[in-house]
Amino acid sequence: MNDFDFTDFSLETERLLLVPLSMKYKHNVFREFNSSITQYMYPKPPEKIEETEEYIGISEKGIKSGDDIRLVIIKKDNNEFLGLARLHDVKSRTPVIGLWVKKSAHGNAYGKEVITAMYHWAKENLEFDYLIYNVDKDNIPSIKIPESLGGVVASQKVSKGLAGNTLNILNYHIK
Ligand SMILES: CC(C)(COP(=O)(O)OP(=O)(O)OC[C@H]1O[C@@H](n2cnc3c(N)ncnc32)[C@H](O)[C@@H]1OP(=O)(O)O)[C@@H](O)C(=O)NCCC(=O)NCCS
Repeated sequence: MNDFDFTDFSLETERLLLVPLSMKYKHNVFREFNSSITQYMYPKPPEKIEETEEYIGISEKGIKSGDDIRLVIIKKDNNEFLGLARLHDVKSRTPVIGLWVKKSAHGNAYGKEVITAMYHWAKENLEFDYLIYNVDKDNIPSIKIPESLGGVVASQKVSKGLAGNTLNILNYHIK
């Protein structure tokens, strides 16, 4: 079993720094996690800051449990908040990976940089059969990420997001 303490976790890439999500980012998350981001996602945007606080509270527990790490994506050169990434079911043979980047920062391939770094970290530090990346079939910029890592579609399903949006989910396995 993978056994990890994520309290002091950090991961650096060429342009980015990933650190555990904490309350100091609550205003950034509340502002940026809006309907322009959630179109192809299961969650819906928070209506009140208290919902974001609750999310971050759960996140802090996940970090301590070692099974669920939610990370803040920061641009190294100016400390700008860019979005969140997550790796959960860390203790299983099939951890799940995902992310969102704020709308104003799209178009810089930050997504690929984040997931590639997390994939390599997982390869070095975890024992897994494959990572799962779930993505809507119309979410082209996101689909490019698992494809770039050699991911393959293992199954598909239709479901509903919390905002009532229909999701046509491709279940990618990345080995
Ligand atoms: C997924 C996400 C992080 C990717 O953002 P990003 O890293 O800024 O991605 P980019 O805009 O740089 O685009 C990545 C690739 O998609 C391509 N692309 C972007 N929009 C496109 C479009 N409408 N049609 C075709 N290709 C498109 C880009 O050309 C680029 O291609 P390349 O890798 O071949 O150069 C971002 O779109 C996001 O946060 N979306 C909202 C939340 C979300 O859906 N998260 C994922 C849930 S699975």
